[in-house]
Parts: sequence; C-alpha cells; structure tokens
Amino acid sequence: MTTAKLFTPLKAGAIDLKNRIVMAPLTRNRARAEDDAPYEIHVDYYSQRAGAGLIVTEASQISPEGKGYAWTPGIHSAAQVAGWKAVTDAVHARGGRIVLQLWHVGRISHTSLQPDGQAPVAPSAVSAGAKTFDGEQFVETSTPRALELSEIPRVIEDYRKAARNALEAGFDGVEVHAANGYLIDQFLRDGANKRTDEYGGSVENRTRLMREVVEAVVDIWGADRVGIRLSPFSAANNISDSDPMPLFEHAVDILNGFGLAYLHMIEGQTGGPRELEEGQSIAALRARFDGVYMANNGYDRTLAIDMVESGKADLVAFGRPYIANPDLAERLKQDAPLNEPDSSTFYGGGREGYTDYPFLNETEAA
Ligand SMILES: Cc1cc2nc3c(=O)[nH]c(=O)nc-3n(C[C@H](O)[C@H](O)[C@H](O)COP(=O)(O)O)c2cc1C
Repeated sequence: MTTAKLFTPLKAGAIDLKNRIVMAPLTRNRARAEDDAPYEIHVDYYSQRAGAGLIVTEASQISPEGKGYAWTPGIHSAAQVAGWKAVTDAVHARGGRIVLQLWHVGRISHTSLQPDGQAPVAPSAVSAGAKTFDGEQFVETSTPRALELSEIPRVIEDYRKAARNALEAGFDGVEVHAANGYLIDQFLRDGANKRTDEYGGSVENRTRLMREVVEAVVDIWGADRVGIRLSPFSAANNISDSDPMPLFEHAVDILNGFGLAYLHMIEGQTGGPRELEEGQSIAALRARFDGVYMANNGYDRTLAIDMVESGKADLVAFGRPYIANPDLAERLKQDAPLNEPDSSTFYGGGREGYTDYPFLNETEAA
C-alpha cells in the first residue's frame, strides 16, 4: 500500500477532504425530463463515488436561461433542490463531500432550450458556432443577443439565488463554473466579449462579471466554501482570447483577494492535449495563486502522485476515469486496474453506463 500524499487528507477552505482525489464535474444529461431535477439514479451514481475526497457535481443551471443542453439538472426550483438534497444526504451518509457546480451557459444554447424560444444571452451577439444537444439531435448553437448593461445585476442575482438553493440542498460548498467557454468565460475572453461598457475591453472590465459573481456567491456561503473553475488556455466551445496570459494573471489576482476554498484549473485543452502554446504557463498562474490548487486534465495515477508529492498541486480532479470507476480513489490507492469508460453512454439515458460500472470487488468476483 502506498503512503503517497495523494491519499492523505486536506482541508480546502472549510471543507475537510479525506484524500486529494476529486471527482471532476461531469455533465451526463440524465435529469428528469419534466423538471430538470436529479432523482434516484443520481443519488446512486453520486453516492457510489463518495470515496473521492470531494465530488464536484455536473454543471447545474442557475436559471432557465442558463440552460444549454437537454436534460441537464438545475438548481433554481424547489423540485431541483429536493432532488439534490437526496443526493447530498446519500453522499454524506457514506462519508463523502460534495459541492455543486453553478452554471450559466451564455451563448452555448439553442432557442428551443430557452424560455419562450428566446435567443440565448451572452456578452455580445457573437455566435459560438458550436454544437449542443436539443433532446433529439445535435444542433448548431443559436446566435445570442447581448445582455443589456441593466440586465447584468439580474444575472448576478440568479447566481446568488442558486447559491442559496445549493445551501438549502445540503452541499458542502459551490464551484463557480468560469471555464469551457460558458457565460463567465465568454465575458473573460475578447473573442466572445466585444462590449464597450464597463464589462468589455480591458482585462479589468472583462473580469468584472467573474468578480461580481464570486462576490455574490461568497456572500451566501463564505469564501472558504466557494471554489472556482478556470480553463485559461482551452478552446472548448470555440472560445478564444488574443492574449490570455495577462487576462488570467489578473483573474488570479482578483481571486486571491477572496480567500476561496480552492482554484480548479483545466490544464491545456479540456479533455485533450495538456501542451500549451509558447508564452502560456499554467505553472505561473498556479504560483500566483495563494490558496489550494486543484489540477485537472489527462491525469493518471503516476502524474497525480508526482504533482501532489512535489507540491505542484494540492488536489487532482479526475473526469473520465470517474465515469467508469465509482471506486477510483480506492483503485488508485491499490494501484488496481481501471475500467474503461464507454463514451456512447456519456450523455443521456438511464442507469446503463451510469450506475452499472463495477466496483473492484465485483470485478474480482466476475
Ligand atoms: C462527459 C463529460 C462531461 C463533462 N461535463 C463537465 C461539466 O459539467 N463541467 C465542467 O466544468 N467540465 C465538464 N467536463 C470536463 C471534465 O470535468 C474534465 O475537465 C475533462 O474530462 C478532463 O479531465 P479528465 O482527463 O480527467 O477526463 C466534462 C467532460 C466529459 C468527458
């Protein structure tokens, strides 16, 4: 049995983790169709994974407008809060910790998924040219309309309400989703943000929404139960920026001012290569950040152990390996073989490819 630091406890802000292994947020499009609420299968899926030091839930829309794909769960209605409460109770009963990922998709949506068939909202009326799933097929994301300056306080208020709902649902904290080309990332990057008011232009202006959302969420939870996820160099959902290094340096400086529970960073292309372009540096951003650092993207056991052992990361989040291995933490500890994820069941459906991946003892028995 290994004594590697990866398997030792850590306190991230006020959240006590029994090990440094995190289940990364994973959208699985299995919420109840009529009300976007999680239900029994989610209770089983997440509680099976309670061996992680921390679970970050799949991204969950803060409002009907924040939705961009069929069957993703929300955190804006009583039914959704009740569904999530059953999930958090079950994870806690197994000694796990779980935070909710707060999501507004911005322009990564389709009119058919929006209230009254409206256009999705974004910093600017610039189409992502990306794809989403509308419940029947993959469709091109709709051209968004630019949020009016006067609407932005309402969007921030939606984050605040969602954060309060997450508190009511019994989570240990929340993670602000500021990655992967969704609303906050759209404001951050000049490829999507063409605004000329105080939310566009300079890095100070483009980081304003992120700062104000974090302020609102911290107001509900306290900073030591709030994390944030960034993907500084990822082109996920066709997001781009002309000069990401100074932008994300400024973002990290702002986050340092809050004393958050952790900073979660996707290193490289989300789900793709970890390599960066010249002039880009995750290590420099990590060094700039004052608090607990959660690394993600393409980690295996060896890399995770090395990064934590050397102090380059405090926590490591695993995405695809957690889809296929409910007992991933135990498998990594024992250096046991891993089940392979089946990508045909990643999105949509029921229990198949969701709650039926075998645990180690079941594999041995088979
Ligand atoms: C099926 C699937 C769903 C995902 N859903 C989310 C999500 O809801 N929120 C998010 O921030 N990232 C999401 N991601 C990205 C993962 O959290 C993670 O960054 C990515 O898979 C790379 O980590 P890995 O190499 O350990 O899988 C998703 C990835 C996959 C494969």
